[in-house]
Amino acid sequence: MVPTTPLSHSQALKAASHSTHERLDHRIMRAQPFAELANYGRFLQMQWRFHTDIAALFERADLALLLPDLWERQRLREIERDLADLNLAPPAPGAQPPALQAQQATLPEALGWFYVAEGSNLGAALLFKAAANLGLDERRGARHLAGHPEGRLRHWRGFTDMLDAQPLTAADQDSMAAGARAAFERVHHHVDMLLA
Ligand code: HEM
Repeated sequence: MVPTTPLSHSQALKAASHSTHERLDHRIMRAQPFAELANYGRFLQMQWRFHTDIAALFERADLALLLPDLWERQRLREIERDLADLNLAPPAPGAQPPALQAQQATLPEALGWFYVAEGSNLGAALLFKAAANLGLDERRGARHLAGHPEGRLRHWRGFTDMLDAQPLTAADQDSMAAGARAAFERVHHHVDMLLA
């Protein structure tokens, strides 16, 4: 028998969220966000809603201890600048109450939510290229999709290395997977509202 190596935390989250991610990816692409600026505007609003949901995560002292560059990982400001670049009004303050589940998350749940936010920056490589069709780039309109200066993959590994090193109980791992699934569900909800 071939011995199986247990999955790392990040691999387990990827496996646990594979089908919801694939469904999300198809739903977003079906809305043709890069076919015209009006569609891209709705995509930006969707991104704004999700990143507003998770804004509280970037204020957490427990996450900051694990990720010293926590604050720099936030992309909400870039999304707001992208909206402004396209003369799209940013949603009014308080337009959407942030997701309570993200605000009240335990640390393992918060790690699951954070996994989804950070991972979305990997797939953003494809979206960034597609945004060039609309004449958008890291200086205008697609700032929040741009790669990190040190490289997307390296930046992602900074997160997964930290995640994989966490001593989590089986119950913690379940909570983390539940956090990731809740985050994806929340993005599906925004797609229902804005792109469906
Ligand atoms: C049309 C939209 C999307 C496409 C085409 C897409 C595509 C991809 C691709 C190709 C990867 C793998 C990148 C790599 O391994 O180098 C990826 C990773 C990931 N994406 Fe998406 N994505 C999309 C939207 C999203 C959204 C909206 C979210 C969540 C808010 C998300 C969450 C993730 C996560 C968590 C990963 C990391 C998976 C892992 O553990 O390796 N994606 N995406």
